Amino acid sequence: MTSELVIRDLHVTVADGEKEVLKGVNLTIRQGEIHALMGPNGSGKSTLSNAIMGHPHYAVTQGDILLDGESILDMEPNVRARKGLFLAFQYPVAVPGVSMANFLRTAVSNIRGFTDQPAPSDKKQGLIGSNLMPMKDFRKEFLGKMDEFNVDRSFAKRYLNEGFSGGEKKRVEILQMAMLQPKFAIMDETDSGLDIDALRVVSDGVNKLAGPDLGILLITHYQRILNYVKPDFVHVFFNGRIVMSGGPEIAYELEEKGYSWVTDQFGELELVAA
Ligand SMILES: Nc1ncnc2c1ncn2[C@@H]1O[C@H](COP(=O)(O)OP(=O)(O)OP(=O)(O)O)[C@@H](O)[C@H]1O
Ligand SMILES: [Mg+2]
Repeated sequence: MTSELVIRDLHVTVADGEKEVLKGVNLTIRQGEIHALMGPNGSGKSTLSNAIMGHPHYAVTQGDILLDGESILDMEPNVRARKGLFLAFQYPVAVPGVSMANFLRTAVSNIRGFTDQPAPSDKKQGLIGSNLMPMKDFRKEFLGKMDEFNVDRSFAKRYLNEGFSGGEKKRVEILQMAMLQPKFAIMDETDSGLDIDALRVVSDGVNKLAGPDLGILLITHYQRILNYVKPDFVHVFFNGRIVMSGGPEIAYELEEKGYSWVTDQFGELELVAA
């Protein structure tokens, strides 16, 4: 069955409810589809990403997010991840002391259900939650994916994102996505800050992962990534909601005419912060 992620009339506030950033977002993404979301700075694109993933600073005040008909609003982010959701961060954070390999082995073990089984040494005490994917299997898969997605093997031992260049962080987000094999991936400006070669590597990675089992929400400011990754739908985001949807031609028009093309039709850009 094709999975479906439905965002219905979503309203979200930040900063302890002081500010409504999302003002009624409606969007349906099916497995196999690529949706591009474009919109000016501060219009609420990352807020949407965070709300979908369940970031605790973002409160849903109205509407719903449904995965195959089931509301995910009460689920913790790790449960959402197990259900098949993945977020590639706009600004990935560094986690000093946690190596990439350890981080991903733990994440993969959680998502694939290894952590539900008692670890061999814990069985007697009936402890749950300390089992991990066998190191041998993980290592083989991880190194294979590092090679496939052009991440140098030396990164396995480095602390997550610590000292990574902007482009390296973005490549590593794609590597994480390749390991976690989500049903739906939200990619928040995975193309920003990339040089031409890195843009190609990242785009190739997205294209490798795209397919009938993956739905992608690709948030971007630039039409250029859409030269490599072909979206089925393009949406324009404005003042906390989607104001225009269509095919790839919208991205070209936006690039050519700028957001004034949209404001002319939808009124002046009222800053979300106002
Ligand atoms: N935790 C927060 N506390 C206060 N304000 C916030 C918080 N998160 C987001 N905002 C505000 O919400 C608005 C939307 O921010 P958001 O990051 O979602 O925009 P964006 O569309 O992703 O912008 P960009 O293109 O620059 O990444 C901004 O005015 C931002 O300052
Ligand atoms: Mg953003």
